[in-house]
Amino acid sequence: MNVSWNCIDKHLESSADKTAIIFEGEQGDTRHISYQQLHDDVCQFANGLKARGVSKGDRVIIYMPMTPEAVIAMQACARIGAIHSVVFGGFSADSLRDRIEDASAVMLITADGGHRGGKIVELKSAADKALSSGCESIKDVVVLKRSGHEIDMKDGRDHWWHDVIEGQATSCEPEWVDSEHPLFLLYTSGSTGKPKGIQHSSAGYLLNAVVTNLWVFDLQDDDIFWCTADVGWITGHTYVAYGPLAAGTTTVIYEGGPVTPDAGRFWKICEDHKVSVFYTAPTAIRALMKFGDEFPNKYDLSSIRLLGTVGEPINPEAWMWYHSVIGKERCPIVDTWWQTETGANMIAPIPGVTATKPGSCTRALPGIEADVVNEDGDSITEANKGGYLVIRKPWPSMLRTIWGDDQRYVDTYFPKFDGRFYLAGDSARKDADGYFWIMGRIDDVVNISGHRLGTMEVESALVAHDRVVEAAVVSRPHEVKGEAIVAFVICKGERPVQDEAESMVKELREWVGEQIGPIAKPDDIRFADGLPKTRSGKIMRRLLRTIARGEEITQDTSTLENEAVVLQLQGKE
Ligand code: WTA
Repeated sequence: MNVSWNCIDKHLESSADKTAIIFEGEQGDTRHISYQQLHDDVCQFANGLKARGVSKGDRVIIYMPMTPEAVIAMQACARIGAIHSVVFGGFSADSLRDRIEDASAVMLITADGGHRGGKIVELKSAADKALSSGCESIKDVVVLKRSGHEIDMKDGRDHWWHDVIEGQATSCEPEWVDSEHPLFLLYTSGSTGKPKGIQHSSAGYLLNAVVTNLWVFDLQDDDIFWCTADVGWITGHTYVAYGPLAAGTTTVIYEGGPVTPDAGRFWKICEDHKVSVFYTAPTAIRALMKFGDEFPNKYDLSSIRLLGTVGEPINPEAWMWYHSVIGKERCPIVDTWWQTETGANMIAPIPGVTATKPGSCTRALPGIEADVVNEDGDSITEANKGGYLVIRKPWPSMLRTIWGDDQRYVDTYFPKFDGRFYLAGDSARKDADGYFWIMGRIDDVVNISGHRLGTMEVESALVAHDRVVEAAVVSRPHEVKGEAIVAFVICKGERPVQDEAESMVKELREWVGEQIGPIAKPDDIRFADGLPKTRSGKIMRRLLRTIARGEEITQDTSTLENEAVVLQLQGKE
């Protein structure tokens, strides 16, 4: 089979002229790309990749703005059997380098820059920085001209996208691959300092991508589907780049930020392009809700018939606003639980079939055997009792392994219950109707604006700074982002106080931004002479969480090595 054939060529006989992609740039430029045009563009680029020696099984990194070319690059890789790994454009040069090196990628596809929040995201200069510090496997860099600003091009290594496709044919026989052939890697955070390359297959992945687009988003021939996720995340893979196309839908791609030029941008796009199915994250809903109803009320949202959310539990207030102000109490809301590892929606309502309850992702989709079990792996039958969320049987779009590390795959997802179930890493409960309520992560992963980050990753970034000896990172609830990062830091020498502490906080925030990306910058950094540890040397993370939340300390601190640090971390000394 070939995924790109299934997403594009399959539709050419019946709907070559149908719009596949509606694109809107942040500055307002728009493009409509038909399935035929998409076919031609993907083939040309695929031929360009082949001409540069990329072949089946090679890894290709895509580090691009949200433009149709990001999808074209993904589809072109799929067409020739190359394995892509998209790195979110908000990740730093260092994060990019780590992913290139882990995947031993031969090519990097990027752009001069993209537009976001009224600024240019400097992708090429970040790519240059990444490549200058390693990445020996990279032979070629392909650069899309998007922002048009001045960048460096390295002779022999860097090639403009428009030169790569110059003179290439607009047809390209797909590389027919085995259904288990890896389609892509996508790096995601876990409980160690190093992100892991989640490896997905071709046929199984595509199957769940298609059926969930059809079942959960109920896609019909005349729908305009807009999933606001960036292709740097799994949601952008399954509900932008692959699923909607495989289902023959028209899908919207928007390049920029949600509040540029103002908080009405999303709703204006819905009106202008007559979006009928809209899928976003609770953090975006909360952020836009704060600006008030006048923004959505300025626009005609009558084309919308179905709303979706993903990434974290949706709080009642945000749900109500989404339901009444955006959906005008007409539209079902599908709350979809799934993960990078699961490839597609797992627990979600089928609109018109499943009665919804605000805050619950309802029931597992057909074919998915989700459950909540106790420490012993027994199904919890008592209503509303929390336990481990597990999946009892493999499903088509399940991750196949962690790239290059089968043992880590086994250790991470099957560490308990004699390997009988896939352990999702979330805790959950089921109510008396058998509806699932997701309660949060059970590992050291935090969810910042719907994005997964390992606390260890942030800790490793902090201790990589010259002045930092030790760091512990926890989260606390945040009104818009869901969770916010709080870092407790021990510095070399004297504990920074007052002005010095203030400038050190700034420096460390920037530092973490450079090491990982702006989303990982701690909201709060506190300094102390030491971390609260038990006599056996374990950091008392639960205590740190209490402190981060500003709650009263109920834990017994008498066993602490150094009780005074608690006052320092609370900012009381
Ligand atoms: C969380 C995003 C509650 C969960 C597709 C999961 C959710 C992690 C929901 C995966 C939801 C995702 N309700 N929590 N509807 N959807 N999560 O890999 O903790 O970026 O384990 O995939 O997000 O995040 P990831």
